[in-house]
Amino acid sequence: MDAGCGNGAKISQLAEEGASAAIGVDISAHLPPPCPGVELLQADLSDLAAMPELSGRSFDRILFLQSIGYAPDGAAALRSAKQMLTPDGVIIVTRTQPVRYAVERAEQTRGAERNYVGEEYFSTEAFPYRHAAWDEGVTLMKKPYTMSDLLNMFSAAGLWLEATVEPQLSVEQALRYPQKQAALNRHLGILLFRLRPLPTVTSSDMEPASLRPVRIRRNSPPRRRGPGVSGAPDQLIGSARSTGQAAPSKASAA
Ligand SMILES: C[S@@+](CC[C@H](N)C(=O)[O-])C[C@H]1O[C@@H](n2cnc3c(N)ncnc32)[C@H](O)[C@@H]1O
Repeated sequence: MDAGCGNGAKISQLAEEGASAAIGVDISAHLPPPCPGVELLQADLSDLAAMPELSGRSFDRILFLQSIGYAPDGAAALRSAKQMLTPDGVIIVTRTQPVRYAVERAEQTRGAERNYVGEEYFSTEAFPYRHAAWDEGVTLMKKPYTMSDLLNMFSAAGLWLEATVEPQLSVEQALRYPQKQAALNRHLGILLFRLRPLPTVTSSDMEPASLRPVRIRRNSPPRRRGPGVSGAPDQLIGSARSTGQAAPSKASAA
């Protein structure tokens, strides 16, 4: 499933390459006639699991290619999509490298108005816009983001980051498309994230460890203590020894 599929080019390509039960979802009504083997659905990517048209469906790949930023709550949208994954399924998210937008915006400001990259990078107010070349009838809300916003969104959705890629042109491609290479050199490119659901930890998974008694082994007889001196530090040293770890010396602790 390609969520925010635009004109459906990517999902069509994937279907041609063998993807079955392929579906593209987009808020726009300007969806072209689908290619054979592809279904295109006008719907909101913010809560895919709630779409009656998608009820009972599951997917081994759910893509948010340059589209998760249009959900009012990105973590909620990913959480909803996660419910539709097959057991070994993955979610792929791509986003423009946020530093790129910060550099572009900083370059656009001049003179006394000038903002620096850091100021732009941390300006993450959402703003509405229309894209006349795509669908004049849809007002899109774009939410700028920092790297920590992105990573925290994945965690909040209960996803773990299996891999991150920052695609670059090969030497041959760079020679063939020098303008693309120049743009990449100046403004960086996109980030691709492969995400999987975090394994669910049940209370019974926790029980054996939490109920296991703590054993304290002493290698030497306990030292005599004066009244009122706590034995806690000795217990810590004892448990460290029982796991084979050396207790830190004064020098190494420093
Ligand atoms: C930047 S385009 C990316 C299109 C395509 N995924 C690509 O990578 O070329 C973002 C797309 O998300 C769609 N979109 C925006 N808000 C949406 C929403 N709430 N639900 C579904 N699609 C949405 C837009 O109509 C647009 O096609």
